[in-house]
Parts: sequence; structure tokens; C-alpha cells
Amino acid sequence: MDAREIKIKAAEAALAYVESGMRLGIGTGSTAEEFVRLLAEKVAGGFKVEGVPTSERTARLCVELGVPLKSLDELPALDLTVDGADEVDSALRLIKGGGGALLREKIVAAASERMIVIADESKLVDTLGAYALPIEVNPFGLVSTRIAIEKVAARLGLSGELNLRQSGDGEFTTDGGHHIIDASFGRIPDAEALSSELNSIPGVVEHGLFINMAALAIIAGPAGARTLQANR
Ligand code: A5P
Repeated sequence: MDAREIKIKAAEAALAYVESGMRLGIGTGSTAEEFVRLLAEKVAGGFKVEGVPTSERTARLCVELGVPLKSLDELPALDLTVDGADEVDSALRLIKGGGGALLREKIVAAASERMIVIADESKLVDTLGAYALPIEVNPFGLVSTRIAIEKVAARLGLSGELNLRQSGDGEFTTDGGHHIIDASFGRIPDAEALSSELNSIPGVVEHGLFINMAALAIIAGPAGARTLQANR
């Protein structure tokens, strides 16, 4: 089974939680895109859903495949969000934002009754942090914000490079017009503390630690998909 087939397995398993009539948050990334493709097939067969996309990229795919979309302002309360992740631990804490959509992903997940994460088993980790943590920052005062992030990290015993994400000729810009600093901490033993410290920095718009948000994680591998439940 190749990498794409494994992502399709996770997406298929998530589709079983989607009921006709649901208001759905639709994630971003290659695994979420497999979910969109499968959802589009169901919609073509008469299944009724309304989706709120977590990125312009996902919106384009949904439009192309005929998945009906609404804005979050039109549908401010969602039944379910299905999204990918860059890392998942056993408590279903996540690192997200590898695709640069973490702010909208977090807003949409927070507006949802339930969030289901779909991922291949390479994303499952004992401790978050091997994947560089995406931190979305306002372009204004970038140097000050970077220094503030370094100070917070040092207070929590974290170190590692902070890289301003690049794309093409310049800085990567998110759908919201912000930049992303990827923080290579290596290990984040206290994700809750880091989350609240980062949230206290004015120039940090949001960060990719998703804590107490996912209710289920569907983790797929060559042997099939299994479901992890949050103990909350
Ligand atoms: C997008 O910003 C991310 O949060 C994605 O959910 C994450 O990068 C997972 O993407 P893949 O499914 O492509 O690994």
C-alpha cells in the first residue's frame, strides 16, 4: 500500500462519521484532500452536506469537485470538522500548520461540535515537537515577536532554530496575510504551558498546538485504520 492509499484509508474511515445534513469543517493538506474527494463522490450520489473550508486551497478543491460551501459566518456552528495533522500524541494533542492553514483550521475546529483527525501512522508520536511547530505571526514587529518567542522558549527550557517560512521569492504568507515561524524545538514536554505562553505574545496570531480539540484520531497504516479516542 503506498502513502496515498494509506491516507485514503484514514479518510474513508472518517467518512463513516459524516451524516447527510451535517455542517462540516473541511481541513487542509493531502490527507484532508483525500477526504474531500471521497465526500464529493457521496455528494454526487445525493448526500447533503454544507462545508466550511479551512483554507483557500481546500475551497478551490471543493468548488472543483462540487462540494457545497458556506462561509463560517453563514454557518457559525458546525457539527464536525475532519482535518489532518503533522503530529498526534496519545492524548490527541496535535501539531498542525505544516500546510500554513493553522489559524483558520483552529477557528473552524473550535466552532465545531467535534473534530476528527485523520493521519497516517508516521504522525503518531510519544512527545510532540520533532515536527517544527508552526507559529503564525503578524508581519508588523516580526523581530520583536521572534525575540519574545525565544524568551518564552528559554523559560520553558526549549531551544532550537526559529525559521521564517519561505515560499518562492519571499516569505510565505497565510490566507490571513500573516507569516509563519517554524520553531524546531525537538521535544515539547509541556505543550499546554508553551501554548499559553505563546498566546500571551501580542505578535503571535496563533500557533499550531491544538490541545483538547480533537475528539478522535483515525490513524491509518498498511494494516488498516484504527481509532484513538481522547480521554476527556
Ligand atoms: C495544514 O495547515 C496542516 O495543519 C495539515 O493538516 C497538516 O500539514 C497535514 O497535512 P498532510 O495531510 O498533507 O500531512
